[in-house]
Amino acid sequence: MPIITVEHLSKNFKVHKRRKGFWGSLGSAISREHDIIKAVDNVNFTLERGELVGYIGANGAGKSTTIKMLTGILVPTSGHIDVMGLTPYHRRKENARRIGVVFGQRTQLWWDLPVIDSFELLKHIYEIPDSRYKQNLEFFCELLQLHPFLSTPVRKLSLGQRMRCDLTAALLHNPEILYLDEPTIGLDVVAKEQVRQFLKQINAERQVTVILTTHDLNDVEQVCQRLIIIDSGKIIYDGGIDVLKKQYGKTRMLIVDLAQPYSDIQLEGVNLTRREENRIWLAFDRDTLPASEVIAQLAARYEIQDLTISEPEIEEIVRRIYKFGMSQ
Ligand SMILES: Nc1ncnc2c1ncn2[C@@H]1O[C@H](COP(=O)(O)OP(=O)(O)OP(=O)(O)O)[C@@H](O)[C@H]1O
Ligand SMILES: [Mg+2]
Repeated sequence: MPIITVEHLSKNFKVHKRRKGFWGSLGSAISREHDIIKAVDNVNFTLERGELVGYIGANGAGKSTTIKMLTGILVPTSGHIDVMGLTPYHRRKENARRIGVVFGQRTQLWWDLPVIDSFELLKHIYEIPDSRYKQNLEFFCELLQLHPFLSTPVRKLSLGQRMRCDLTAALLHNPEILYLDEPTIGLDVVAKEQVRQFLKQINAERQVTVILTTHDLNDVEQVCQRLIIIDSGKIIYDGGIDVLKKQYGKTRMLIVDLAQPYSDIQLEGVNLTRREENRIWLAFDRDTLPASEVIAQLAARYEIQDLTISEPEIEEIVRRIYKFGMSQ
């Protein structure tokens, strides 16, 4: 049985229309005209226990709104959510005991309190038994190296330190699901790597089901097996990252350094997508044209100094999907 089932889930927001100028603003106050934003629009998916899923999409696509409905913070406009047999927004408290939430943009910790005091408060809030609390605290302090700043007030922590504390805070009560909304935002390369390793580890060792939203596709590529892409409130992709790469990563790129800046580059089945002095970028379809053929065509007409073939990166594939949709 799935741990999370989402059916025909929608969330609309009413926003007041703004008119220009004094009379416009007066008018809108009287007539109360508004627009409806479909932040989440008929979304369906299920998650199995132990899955680690990336939930991605451009700014404003509806990621945070979905997470907020799953965690019970927001009530859907329509549709159903089942999280471990509960409807999150009906049974907020019960749901909260079994989930962990991290919002990268905003800490869940008490700003002026030392880190350890926040943890102690959470122990009482979640009624975590002494032994389990101690065990978990030791485990996370060791794994995330929290010891040096346990007695520092949260407001004095660096972003990376704060994120490690937030991750601990979200997991102290042994939740079965962890929701993460941009947990790597603003972190340096090393700190991002730590967060990724950590997520993989708690997923493998503690079987925590993880939903991760992010704008860093390296997070998704390194951590998740499955990817859900949301665009203007609608799911446009749900499947393996490998499948996406195979299906949408058909375009390979040949980067060539020519002996001189030839002006008339024309090759059958090949698109010249960029040029910088003697260097040209040629895009071609891997299914219809072998690289050897492109190189042979090229070598027959132009003098080549160097060349490399680059395979499509997940970043590039997703960038194209955001821009042109799935039907490219
Ligand atoms: N409380 C709200 N009132 C009105 N509109 C809202 C509200 N919350 C979100 N929206 C709108 O709903 C849409 C989806 O927002 P959401 O925050 O879910 O996007 P997101 O995918 O998380 O984007 P980002 O990557 O920028 O965090 C946006 O158009 C946003 O402006
Ligand atoms: Mg968001």
